[in-house]
Amino acid sequence: MITAYTDRSDIKMMAFKAGATEFLTKPIDVAEFAARTKNLVALRESQLMQRDRARLLATQVEEATMRITQREFETLTVLGKAAEYRDPETANHILRVAHLSKLISGNLGMDANEQDMIFHAAPLHDVGKIGIPDSILLKPAGLTDDEYNLIKTHTIIGYNMLKDSSSLYLRAGAEIALTHHEHYSGAGYPQGLLGDGISLYGRIVAVADSYDAMVTRRPYKEPWPVEKALKIITLEKGRQFDPIIVEAFLALPHEAETLYERYTD
Ligand SMILES: [Fe+2]
Ligand SMILES: [Fe+2]
Repeated sequence: MITAYTDRSDIKMMAFKAGATEFLTKPIDVAEFAARTKNLVALRESQLMQRDRARLLATQVEEATMRITQREFETLTVLGKAAEYRDPETANHILRVAHLSKLISGNLGMDANEQDMIFHAAPLHDVGKIGIPDSILLKPAGLTDDEYNLIKTHTIIGYNMLKDSSSLYLRAGAEIALTHHEHYSGAGYPQGLLGDGISLYGRIVAVADSYDAMVTRRPYKEPWPVEKALKIITLEKGRQFDPIIVEAFLALPHEAETLYERYTD
């Protein structure tokens, strides 16, 4: 602001309040004007630099977060693959269970974050099979009681592998590994948990995993027709499975069909 008023401090105050950064009085002293202008330009330049730096930092933080998330997904994939090498179940089984679980959670009204969580954690449900000997894991039929009891420990092995991770996805995987063979009625394993005492993720994956096992080929059985599988799921409503989750599952026949076209064994 340049003005001829020299002794009006109220005007000066008003000018500063209105956003003036400098206040010069007439007549202008050329040297002072040049010095003050130089200061203002320097100030503006440093403001712009700071703004650019803030933008650069924000971009860098965003990129770093993306890289971490990417690595987390890589960890999940590697773990899933490790389990797959040991397990006669296929990669597509894991993918179908992930998709089915996500679809069910959507139908249950779970938010996008939780749907994303179950999608990435469900593939870890059988990761504990890494700890089960091949001679038992790959046996086509006729397991002894002891052998069957050993297979059941894949739930606890998986849980112990994942439970202490700082990753939310891996911890959700631990929860699912531990609870995906629990029954709503309390007759499941390893803890014989009852109803809502079973983790919600575990109850969802239990339906998706069982359905997929029924309609696909396994070393010990041929694939069952969809109608037969749906009948059994319905029959087990309130017994093996949470009734609400069975309802949510039965409400998605179309999406489930497309999944089986996309990820065939
Ligand atoms: Fe399992
Ligand atoms: Fe499975």
